[in-house]
Amino acid sequence: MDLAGDSRGSFKRIALLFAMEAEARPFVERLGLSQDAAFGDPRLPFVHYRGRYGNSLELLLSVNGRDPRFGVDNIGTEPATLNAYVTLRGFAPQLCISAGTAGGFRSRGGAIGDVYVSDRPLRFHDRRIPLPGFDAYGVGSYPAAPSGELARAVGLKQGGVSTGNSLDHTEKCLELIERGGASVKEMEAAAIAWVAWCLGTPFLALKAITDLVDGEHATEEEFLRNLEAASRALGEKLHRVLEYLDRGGGQAAV
Ligand code: ADE
Repeated sequence: MDLAGDSRGSFKRIALLFAMEAEARPFVERLGLSQDAAFGDPRLPFVHYRGRYGNSLELLLSVNGRDPRFGVDNIGTEPATLNAYVTLRGFAPQLCISAGTAGGFRSRGGAIGDVYVSDRPLRFHDRRIPLPGFDAYGVGSYPAAPSGELARAVGLKQGGVSTGNSLDHTEKCLELIERGGASVKEMEAAAIAWVAWCLGTPFLALKAITDLVDGEHATEEEFLRNLEAASRALGEKLHRVLEYLDRGGGQAAV
């Protein structure tokens, strides 16, 4: 892949970050990954799995775990940021993938079950700070590795990914998503991309569409209805992404 970008070698140590257990489950089960209870900080809710793929890949897959008070998965940017730091610091991967589900846009050619790979810097759509300099800082723009060759090889749609902490949206969110040219709306990728950028780790987002933001159905109903099928589609594509990397795709021309 042209993923190589400015990295210095091939991608053999891969970190996969998921927010929800339901999103990760099909892939974890298919690969038979084992939990590594010794990794990370036992005080934190994150669940880490280790495994190998093919001939050459070493994987660390981290899920954000559950909040014991509310009994739900730790979704959104705060757990994503902290888990990204724990995982990238402890595993030192050559590539970090934020994997999960997301909303798509019919007006941009999106459909339920599509799997997108990021093709431009990651941005936020709900950090509005109308102060000089802070306005651009709020929106962000954290690098994504080039993904054209990967997308063609694996059969992924390419698009911009925009992050915010709400499943629903305001008119202002839509305006910022539109301005950034994003095709995918989700709740973790830009936060993880920020950590990856700070630590110098190449980053990609891989997102399966559960609902259409500009469709006629209520987001929450559509999300719940399609979560399982979209997560299966995500697991399938992730498998193929790893196959591609195992074959040497993404090798830097060094
Ligand atoms: N995850 C799945 N669908 C989403 C949406 N519409 N907005 C944010 N995150 C999502």
